[in-house]
Amino acid sequence: MSKFESRVAFVTGATGGIGTWLCRQFAEEGVSVVVTDLRQESCDELAGELRGKGVEAKGYAMDVCDTSSVRGVVSQVLEDFGKIDILVNNAGVWLHPDFKENGFHPLHEMPEEDWLHIIDINLCGTIRVSQAVVPSMIAAGYGRIINLSSIAGISGLPGMADYAASKGGVILLTKTMSMELASKGITVNAVAPGMVASKNGGVRPNAGTWVGRNCHPSEVARAIVFLADDESGFITGVNLPVDGGRTIGPHGTGWNK
Ligand SMILES: NC(=O)c1ccc[n+]([C@@H]2O[C@H](COP(=O)([O-])OP(=O)(O)OC[C@H]3O[C@@H](n4cnc5c(N)ncnc54)[C@H](O)[C@@H]3O)[C@@H](O)[C@H]2O)c1
Repeated sequence: MSKFESRVAFVTGATGGIGTWLCRQFAEEGVSVVVTDLRQESCDELAGELRGKGVEAKGYAMDVCDTSSVRGVVSQVLEDFGKIDILVNNAGVWLHPDFKENGFHPLHEMPEEDWLHIIDINLCGTIRVSQAVVPSMIAAGYGRIINLSSIAGISGLPGMADYAASKGGVILLTKTMSMELASKGITVNAVAPGMVASKNGGVRPNAGTWVGRNCHPSEVARAIVFLADDESGFITGVNLPVDGGRTIGPHGTGWNK
């Protein structure tokens, strides 16, 4: 058994598009998976699929906006699995609750409940889960933390200032945590997806990737698994874009080869 195969990965928002592919890839690598998301039923379903691949996996309903839910699940997981080696702060939303009517608002027109909602899940959720998990990693002298940021956190996103600000916050949270935890055997990195195809493989309308297509969720998952590996211990504080080159620069020169 490789060292990686003895690891336990705790994934938030695990039953969504990127989370599902990530859990599958961890399982294929032999890593045990803690499947957490809002609905117990979908967590159980995915955990069952992963156990079918021969790894330990269990589902837990957890809301990253609720500190007692987060702390309760983390202590139950430590009891059930004995440790958490890998934490992937993947839970996130970018659509406002009223998206069907009018999802995009310039900041000066954005309802307070919208921006509080987005920042609470994406940024505060990442903080809550990290605060609950990190003490056990420090005690073990080992950890891999991967936070999901976004290219919106690098370049901004008009009409979604709250989302862009939450993801920009995740990038600086990642850098700061990486400095605080480096001497304790814990790496902290972020992955910044560009536009990712939907869960069922459908492709969203796209503009601006140099590779000329959208990303499949499995490609984001690959980058996360790479950073989660034991062998990636010299990489910390990085925000790795998985964006087909979108943030390199615009298509402004007429280059079309
Ligand atoms: N899909 C993209 O194009 C894209 C681009 C950039 C960044 N990202 C980021 O990647 C991550 C995963 O995105 P995805 O495309 O898989 O999204 P998704 O909507 O398919 O999955 C997100 C998951 O988070 C869960 N979630 C929502 N609120 C939660 C809460 N309060 N507590 C716990 N879980 C909660 C949802 O139930 C869902 O399963 C997110 O952080 C997202 O911001 C996605």
